[in-house]
Amino acid sequence: MSNHANINSNDAIKTMKLYTHVDRIKTELTSRGMLSQNPIDPIVLSEIDSMHFLGNAAIEAAVAAMGLTASSKVLDVGSGFGGPARILSSLTKCHVVALELQQDIHNLGAELTRRCNLSDSVDHVSGDILDDKIGQQLGNGISSFDAIVSYLVFLHIPNKGSVLDVCRKLLKPNGALFAEDFFCISPFTKVEVESLARDVFCRDLPSREEYIQQLELSGFKNIQFIDMTTEWTQYVTKRLEHFIANKDGYVKVHGEEAYSGLLEFYAAVATLFSGGNLGGVRIVAQMT
Ligand SMILES: C[S@@+](CC[C@H](N)C(=O)[O-])C[C@H]1O[C@@H](n2cnc3c(N)ncnc32)[C@H](O)[C@@H]1O
Repeated sequence: MSNHANINSNDAIKTMKLYTHVDRIKTELTSRGMLSQNPIDPIVLSEIDSMHFLGNAAIEAAVAAMGLTASSKVLDVGSGFGGPARILSSLTKCHVVALELQQDIHNLGAELTRRCNLSDSVDHVSGDILDDKIGQQLGNGISSFDAIVSYLVFLHIPNKGSVLDVCRKLLKPNGALFAEDFFCISPFTKVEVESLARDVFCRDLPSREEYIQQLELSGFKNIQFIDMTTEWTQYVTKRLEHFIANKDGYVKVHGEEAYSGLLEFYAAVATLFSGGNLGGVRIVAQMT
């Protein structure tokens, strides 16, 4: 049983506006003339469907940090629409299992992978990383992955120990973890706590020290805690400015409601990072 099934149910997480109007991906593809019968280039698609920061540079960083090759078996926890999984596989020819909690996002991710002709190298699995049955299904009861990547997913899971313990069980000895996540630099204001919970579906973020301690407790070594706060703050600020500047074009294709929802999300994230209490981190660590 998942130990947070109630808070992480498909419906609850939809208070975060990034996860509504899922049909926007297909609408955008159609508006760019990428019709359903035609194959898609995963690199072009990643400009539309990726939900993390800094685009494919963040995927290239994982490839470099973990030395992924064609023989690597990688688990992408919280794969979203599958963007990072497809880029990982395109860059290295590695095999990726893309695990996603939300059924509608999982379904679309699998469809996009088929349209990119990558179904032989990217497998999509629907489920919660904290669900024991999923853990067993992914690992067949044994440690089976050379690497785990996870982009902006752990922030949805209040108990970092629970997800790190699952990662430990799924990784081979000396396997690598690459995770991008949020952490707490200094105490959040009441407004920030509420915004984190509502707009980002995020609560109980650890400090840098608490995070590193938990990684050690969960059996990780060679831990790199790379502070991404400055770069991510610039990124989310520019993202918001760009979105507002291109309002008319977006509304024409997706409608006013879809625009307002995404604007609310982009504005909330930019405000949180600008506030100075929210930090962003890239974690690279190795299984003992
Ligand atoms: C911010 S999105 C990032 C998606 C993708 N990693 C990317 O970079 O495009 C976080 C994703 O994690 C998924 N997620 C959250 N909690 C999860 C869990 N417990 N198990 C599996 N996926 C989860 C969400 O449904 C969401 O699609």
